[in-house]
Amino acid sequence: MKNLEGKNILIGVTGGIAAYKVVEVASRLKKLGANVKVVMTRAATEFVSPRTFQEITKNAVYVEMFGDAANFNVAHISLANFADLVLIAPATANFLAKAANGIADDLLTTTILAATAPKIFAPSMNTNMLENPATQENLKILQERGIKILDAAEGELACGISGKGRLPEPEKICEEIVKFFETEKILSGKKILVTAGGTLEPIDPVRYIGNRSSGKMGFEIAKSAKNLGAEVILIAGNVQLAPPKNLKFVKVESAEEMREKVLAEYDSVDAVIMSAAVADYRVKNISPQKIKKSEENLTLELVKNPDILKELGSLKKNQILIGFAAETENLLEYARKKLDEKNLDFIVANNVTVEGAGFGVDTNVASIIKRNGEVKNFPLMSKSDLAEKILSELIKIFGE
Ligand code: C5P
Repeated sequence: MKNLEGKNILIGVTGGIAAYKVVEVASRLKKLGANVKVVMTRAATEFVSPRTFQEITKNAVYVEMFGDAANFNVAHISLANFADLVLIAPATANFLAKAANGIADDLLTTTILAATAPKIFAPSMNTNMLENPATQENLKILQERGIKILDAAEGELACGISGKGRLPEPEKICEEIVKFFETEKILSGKKILVTAGGTLEPIDPVRYIGNRSSGKMGFEIAKSAKNLGAEVILIAGNVQLAPPKNLKFVKVESAEEMREKVLAEYDSVDAVIMSAAVADYRVKNISPQKIKKSEENLTLELVKNPDILKELGSLKKNQILIGFAAETENLLEYARKKLDEKNLDFIVANNVTVEGAGFGVDTNVASIIKRNGEVKNFPLMSKSDLAEKILSELIKIFGE
C-alpha cells in the first residue's frame, strides 16, 4: 500500500547511536511512496555516512550550512519549503535544547527554524539525560508549540543501562507518520465552537465570584481542532492563556455574556465542545459602587445562571454537543445524568479530586461516556493528548 505518495518528508538526523535505525525509517518511507530528503548534523555523520541516506532516498544529503561561495543557494530555506512534514530522528538532548531556544547554528537547526511544516521529534538518549529537568522543560516547550514528541521506548541502551530513551522502532515511527497524513485536515470544512475557562460573576466594580478553571483543556481542544483543519471559534472566560493563532477568539466574563456569544454562533457550527466551567449562580444585585466594609456580616443573594449547554441541547438541530462533568463523587452516575438532561452526544467526565486531574494542571484523568452507554476510561495523560482523544470521538460521530 503506497499511502505516502506525493508527500515530501524531510528527515533531520542528529548525532545519536540510534541514527543507524533511521536508515530503515527512510527506506520504509520511500517504499510507502514518499519523497524523502535528509539533513544530518556533523555529529550524525560519525554514526552513519551521508552516502547511505543518499542511496536509500535517491536524493542529495545535506550537512553543511556553507558550501561553495561561488554556488550560492539558500539550502535551509529550500529544504524548509520542501517539507510537508519534518521528522527529527534521533533527536538528541542537544538538538532539543537548541530547537526549544531557537538556536540556529548549523544547517539542520536553521532549517527547522525556517520550516513551517508540522514536525515530529523522536528523542533518543540516555535515561538520565532524558529525565533531566532541562530536557523535560525543552520537550514541554516544543510540545506547547505544537511539535509532536514521540515517546522514547524502554529497553537496553547503548550506554549499557536499561531504561527509557531508545528510539522507537522504525515501523512505529513510520506508523506515526502515516497516521499524521491520514488524520491531517480531517476536520476541514467543519466549524467547531469550543468554550474554555471559568466565568467571572461580578459582585461590584472590583470584585467577582470565580472558579479555579485555567482554560487549558479547552485551549488544547481548540488548538488540536485547528490543527486538524477545522474552523474554530474559541470563547474563553477568565483565563491567563495567550489566544491561540488562526482562530476566532472571543473573550467573555460572565455566564450570561458567554451564553449570548455562544448562541450567536450556534446555528452556524457543526459541533460545540463546552469545556468552560460556567458559574451556576451569579449575584442578584451587582453593586454599582465598591461595597464598603461596614457591617460585620455581608450577605450576597445569588440567582441561578442559565445552563448554556442545556439550552443548546434543547435547541439542537444537527450540531454535535459535547459536555464536561467535573465531579468530586459518583462520577459516572452524575455524568450519565447530565448527558441525558443536556441532550449531549458524549460527555467527558473527570473526578477533580484525583491527583493529576482537573483544574490548573497540565494533565487530566478522564472518561468519555457516549450516548449508547459505552464508556472509555483514559489513564493520566496530558491535556493535549486528551484533546486528541476527544476529537477522535467527535471525528467518529461525524463519520457515522
Ligand atoms: O451541570 P454541570 O455544571 O456540572 O455541567 C457541566 C457542563 O455543562 C459543562 O460542559 C459546562 O460547560 C456546561 N454548563 C453550562 N452552563 C452552566 C453550567 C454548566 O453550559 N450554567
